[in-house]
Amino acid sequence: MCGIVGYVGDNYDISVVVEGLKRLEYRGYDSAGLACVNIDNSINSKNEIKYCKSVGKVGNLQQKIFQEYPNLIAADSNFKSNQQLNVIAHTRWATHGEPSTINAHPHLDTSEKFAIVHNGIIENYENLREHLIAQDFTFKSETDSEVIANLISYCYEGDFFAAVASAVKKLQGTYGIAVISTEKPDEIIVASKGSPIAIGLRENDKIIASDVVAIAAYTKQVIYLSDDDIAIVTSNNIEIRNVDNVVIEREKKTLDWDIESVSKGEYAHFMLKEIFEQPQVLANSVRGRYNLDLATANLAGLNLTAQDIVRLNRIVIAACGTSLNAGLLGEYYFEDLAHIPTEVDQAAEFRYRNPIIEVDSLVLAVSQSGETADTLAAVNEAINKGAIVAAICNSVGSTIARRCGRGVYLHAGVEVSVASTKAFTCQSVVMLLMALMFGRCRRLNQQTGQDLIAEIIKIPQLVEEVLAQSDEIHRIAKKYVKCCNFLYIGRGYLYPVALEGALKLKEISYIHAEGYHAAELKHGPIALLCEDTPVMALANKMPGKDKVIGNIQECLARKAPVVVTATKNDADIEKLAVDDVIWLPEASVYTTPIITAVALQLFSYFVALERGCEIDQPRNLAKSVTVE
Ligand code: F6R
Repeated sequence: MCGIVGYVGDNYDISVVVEGLKRLEYRGYDSAGLACVNIDNSINSKNEIKYCKSVGKVGNLQQKIFQEYPNLIAADSNFKSNQQLNVIAHTRWATHGEPSTINAHPHLDTSEKFAIVHNGIIENYENLREHLIAQDFTFKSETDSEVIANLISYCYEGDFFAAVASAVKKLQGTYGIAVISTEKPDEIIVASKGSPIAIGLRENDKIIASDVVAIAAYTKQVIYLSDDDIAIVTSNNIEIRNVDNVVIEREKKTLDWDIESVSKGEYAHFMLKEIFEQPQVLANSVRGRYNLDLATANLAGLNLTAQDIVRLNRIVIAACGTSLNAGLLGEYYFEDLAHIPTEVDQAAEFRYRNPIIEVDSLVLAVSQSGETADTLAAVNEAINKGAIVAAICNSVGSTIARRCGRGVYLHAGVEVSVASTKAFTCQSVVMLLMALMFGRCRRLNQQTGQDLIAEIIKIPQLVEEVLAQSDEIHRIAKKYVKCCNFLYIGRGYLYPVALEGALKLKEISYIHAEGYHAAELKHGPIALLCEDTPVMALANKMPGKDKVIGNIQECLARKAPVVVTATKNDADIEKLAVDDVIWLPEASVYTTPIITAVALQLFSYFVALERGCEIDQPRNLAKSVTVE
């Protein structure tokens, strides 16, 4: 979704922000823009904000800048100062108002003294706007964000910080903002509430961003703002205060990943790279987190004692999209292995349906990005209700991880492809480890624990074996490139995998795909079956396989083409007259869903590839959904 980048320092080149915007492209956006303060030192002249915005890719913005400001790179350019560069930039994912140049950020106030970029949603913008219009402020865009620029201007009485502080006090909703002003051309003011802002630290310049991916190429030292923080950032200083002007210290953090990991390397797409990374990252997720002698998992970040675990009376998993599907798989793990009643909530519903949460309830927020607005709202609700709330996140230092204060990181590395792949399998394996740990405290004997660890350790090798089928899966995928609908069916542990398989196919290939519990077929979806509607049936050797075979027969009887995922050498499947079989290695009930998901990721990838889709950034989608 929207991305913010800013730079203040003595490097005249805007490439830091343009590169930063490009690094945020993976998040999904439809327009981009930047603004800076042009300092004029001549007598009787005044500073001015220059800006440039365009629809489409950052490349379009870059081109427009070069057309409108041809001397941009030169130190005497009229786009920027020859003393210092102070620039804010943005990629916008439209919420209020269509993707257009006018709606793109930055937005300036009526007097053009202030320019802002904003991530998040201002819920009371209509009231504020009406109030400001009554005070003769004018608006150009349809966005909620523009109100912030005019509000700061309205609150300005000669003190830039005080104006931003009193403006944000009036905002309801979420914001990550960066503001520049002609009045203080050497400062960028940033503020955050429910939408992240990080500041990259260098000696003589500072880089701000809503996602550290835009910063990591320049520095590994960052400070994350917490909710209600406002920071005055200059080239050689950062001062953080709260809205009441009290100075606050925030710890410096060191980014522990390399920017190289955010490049495609030899792969055609990030998605393919991330699918192929899974043996490695799954090993990272598991490494150091089990103890064979004690036959249990070590997940110290959960900060739960054995007594806490024994007392747990329920687990509630709140998540969205792919993370929700991983949560559904987690439900099977927790109930089977630890016998803890578990329910999975669409995070957007969690706080509106008044969930029953008690002090011994564990709420797990599962989120790759750690920034998903609905999941964050669920976390806040669960904390307010007094639950134990833990995060399963990939992005280190993300808002959800920080808000929960306890949890387990995936160690999957940055996931760039909008379609989540490695996060799903790592989330699943982390929940499997968690279920082992809880199970050992509550009911599982040592032998069962050790057997489970042996299975978990084998996962990376099993995934390698699935990846070795890539060419064969590509061959099969080519046959289904022209279809318009696809059904995915599974039972038990493979039911969440059917949901995830269908989600993956629809989001990157734009083929309408739905996942169903195989038993549900007869209760409606079977009406869709015909020779143009293929079915992906998950029929690996698992409990319920025989029933899935029955469902496959029902599909074949209705002339639907059927692709099956099956366990190698399964004679029952060899006998079936299905169209295609994706043969997968023998694995346990706990690990089969994980390896089957990998096969379905490859299938979706190859269908999308053959259809010529824009795989890493599918239309309309955003990597990190920071608005509700
Ligand atoms: C699907 C996908 C989305 C995300 C969802 C939640 O491939 O990527 O469905 O899973 O938006 O995102 P996180 O996990 O970051 O909370």
